[in-house]
Amino acid sequence: MSKDIVCVTGGAGYIGAVLVRKLLEQGEKVRVYDKLYFGDKALTDVLDRIELIPGDVRTFKADVLDGVKCVMHLGSLSNDPTAEFDPKANHEINFEGTMRVAEACKRQGVRKMTLASSCAVYGFHLDGVVDELCPTNPQSEYAKSKLDAEVGLQSLVDTNFCPVVLRQATVFGFSNRMRWDLVVNTMTMDAFDKDRIHVYCAGDNWRPLIDVNDIADGHIIAMKAAEDKVRAEVFNLVLKNFRILELGHWIRETIKPHRKVEVEVLFGSKESRSYQVSGEKAKKVLGFAPKVSVEVAVTKIWEILRSGRFTDFSNPIYYNIDWMRLLVEMEQKLKVIGKVF
Ligand SMILES: NC(=O)c1ccc[n+]([C@@H]2O[C@H](COP(=O)([O-])OP(=O)(O)OC[C@H]3O[C@@H](n4cnc5c(N)ncnc54)[C@H](O)[C@@H]3O)[C@@H](O)[C@H]2O)c1
Repeated sequence: MSKDIVCVTGGAGYIGAVLVRKLLEQGEKVRVYDKLYFGDKALTDVLDRIELIPGDVRTFKADVLDGVKCVMHLGSLSNDPTAEFDPKANHEINFEGTMRVAEACKRQGVRKMTLASSCAVYGFHLDGVVDELCPTNPQSEYAKSKLDAEVGLQSLVDTNFCPVVLRQATVFGFSNRMRWDLVVNTMTMDAFDKDRIHVYCAGDNWRPLIDVNDIADGHIIAMKAAEDKVRAEVFNLVLKNFRILELGHWIRETIKPHRKVEVEVLFGSKESRSYQVSGEKAKKVLGFAPKVSVEVAVTKIWEILRSGRFTDFSNPIYYNIDWMRLLVEMEQKLKVIGKVF
């Protein structure tokens, strides 16, 4: 059987919805494997051009990879609060699920697998810019599970299996599966909805950021890269490091031609991460050069909001932790109620 399909786990998610479209634009055949926590609405317009397999990585079956040449593994719980909400599920999905997908790759002879890991594995680093050789310092269940997945994946490497770890910076920008719980998106939404940008923890912390389109490109570049360049390698994917306060002002300036908004600095709560990350290795080895600035992404989000789309800001589906809490609550209620009607 020829192997010409790209399988994207988590392909119905925020990054996945952008990545799947890019793969289609580049003439790839795409199979999405996703638990569909957020439904498949983000893929509605491409459903007739992809294969969509609803499923959980915890029960991933090797035959999902029939005809697959590369797996892009994005399917996981994807932030600190959801991981803290159910640490056991987080470990099972983010670590064990990743291992299950990787083992299926090896069984089915899928040579390449990219892992959507996170710069959160660096945790707190107050002394300069960290690169891939710097020690990790994960501060949360989420970050630990991502690091476990990286190490687990690398332990499976051999001449026939080439995993590539992509430590993604915090992502921003528009996706058809919109997330308003990511810092740039949240600030833009607040500016639109409240004429105010909130900056928490005094805005002291550093955070590396990158646009969702660039992240998608990163996975595609890693897929196409020669195996000997990327086998078991770790790459940071980052556009630029921002202090959160600077980011708030930057977004205010970007929006200024459309609306005058205030930046409100809040003190008190604790932030568990601060780090600056270098993207030099990805640039040197992969030729990966992020193209989309915060300014361009914010302007695009602003236009979408002005057109009246995605303005139902109180809908919990845009906030991962709120949505997971709601799903669990409904699951409990439905156990008692049975079928609703
Ligand atoms: N968005 C960011 O800023 C960011 C930064 C670093 C790393 N990441 C990683 O990138 C990946 C994608 O993130 P995102 O922002 O698109 O998140 P998302 O929550 O929008 O998408 C995750 C997708 O994975 C699916 N999924 C979750 N658990 C699953 C399971 N058990 N089996 C199968 N599918 C499952 C969900 O249904 C969803 O469609 C995640 O692995 C995340 O940890 C994201």
